[in-house]
Amino acid sequence: MGCGRGELTRELLPHVTGGLVHGFDLDPRQVAAARSIAGARFEVADAEDLYEQPAGKYDLAVCRRLLLHVRRPSEVLRQMARIVRSGGAVAAIEPGVPDGLAGDVLDAIGERWLGRRLADLFAEAGLPDVTVARVEGSPPPLPTSPTDRDQYLGSGGTLERWEQHLAQLRPTEGLWGGIAKVP
Ligand SMILES: C[S@@+](CC[C@H](N)C(=O)[O-])C[C@H]1O[C@@H](n2cnc3c(N)ncnc32)[C@H](O)[C@@H]1O
Repeated sequence: MGCGRGELTRELLPHVTGGLVHGFDLDPRQVAAARSIAGARFEVADAEDLYEQPAGKYDLAVCRRLLLHVRRPSEVLRQMARIVRSGGAVAAIEPGVPDGLAGDVLDAIGERWLGRRLADLFAEAGLPDVTVARVEGSPPPLPTSPTDRDQYLGSGGTLERWEQHLAQLRPTEGLWGGIAKVP
């Protein structure tokens, strides 16, 4: 969910045997770019409005660096849980970035601390039995996409600050993950 250009999809594909991988993103430009990835299907969809998707269709719904962008993050988790079968899982990986220019950029386009609120957000979504932990590794937890840039510039940020932010990225800092079984 919120697959962007398919970065996470690319990482997941080698772990999926005999199943289907679907990526959804609100931005048609991102979906068009993701479609170059073989072995997965990509569609435009709003993660806050997934009612056209059948309930219980998927084994796993996962988002990474999506919830900080949406108005109602716990509602997105609730809707992700609806399209997952009972016994499947919902997972989210989000930044929790304390300071510096990256934090400023996150504040301009979303919520820099969201990754550290995952337990509460899962509970609000009806998924209280969640495991939350710090996540090491790729990708940058910080905003990097063209959509992020447009949002940052739209909120009054300057291109110069955005380019400074990209130059200062420290890729593995500040990512948090939560995973819960769907009842
Ligand atoms: C920072 S990118 C993350 C891309 C990818 N998940 C990753 O971690 O590499 C955030 C993506 O969320 C998408 N997005 C924002 N709001 C959304 C919504 N309501 N529904 C679906 N996608 C959304 C944006 O278009 C953007 O592609």
